[in-house]
Amino acid sequence: MPGGKGILIIIEGIDGAGKSTQARMLYDDLQRRGIDTVLSREPTDSKYGRKIRELAEKGRETAVPEEEYRLFMKDRRIHVDTLIQPAIENGKVVILDRYYFSTIAYQGALGLDPVKIRSDNEAFCPKPDLVLLIDIPVTAGIDRIRKYRRETPNLFEKESYLDKVARCLAALDDEFIVRIDGSGSLGDVHDRIRAYVEPLIRPLVKQGG
Ligand code: TYD
Repeated sequence: MPGGKGILIIIEGIDGAGKSTQARMLYDDLQRRGIDTVLSREPTDSKYGRKIRELAEKGRETAVPEEEYRLFMKDRRIHVDTLIQPAIENGKVVILDRYYFSTIAYQGALGLDPVKIRSDNEAFCPKPDLVLLIDIPVTAGIDRIRKYRRETPNLFEKESYLDKVARCLAALDDEFIVRIDGSGSLGDVHDRIRAYVEPLIRPLVKQGG
């Protein structure tokens, strides 16, 4: 539906929650059914996103939270201007692997004011139609990071940090947020996600889709 209003769907959760896999599965499913869908993630591959990843590799302990925050915000501005906003205006379904709820939770967990983070973001970010928050225990997320990414961060610190992040995510109470049980198989989680996405995208499904 060119010129129509698209749909903005966000997938959030702590590291190791399975966001990227679920975002991809949802994208493949919608594309297969003929729905014009865009899949993207934050941080992006802009120069600011690359800088964020560089800092993350050096170990986030060395990064200053305010500096990190500025980079996430610059990265997001570019993302909104060049990809998110235009795609929504063109009537597409936009699926994002992380958005400003990650900033509220991750930078909030580092001591920045979550109320300010929210208002800074709401000043320029399109409002989501649906935020799917994948819920898994922090220990399960850390186990998955170890197993699949072979990362060996300072797990003790990582666990206490992710505990704070999880608490910030748990405190979010926007009307467009739903919590998805992240346990079970990939297919189980995908089915739970689809149950919330279906009513939103029904008007876009082509006949026979
Ligand atoms: P992510 O892309 O999920 O990790 P990966 O590089 O393994 O695919 O995100 C990288 C990290 O950035 C993740 O630990 C969460 C963090 N992050 C923030 O702290 N604030 C933000 O606003 C965003 C979008 C991510």
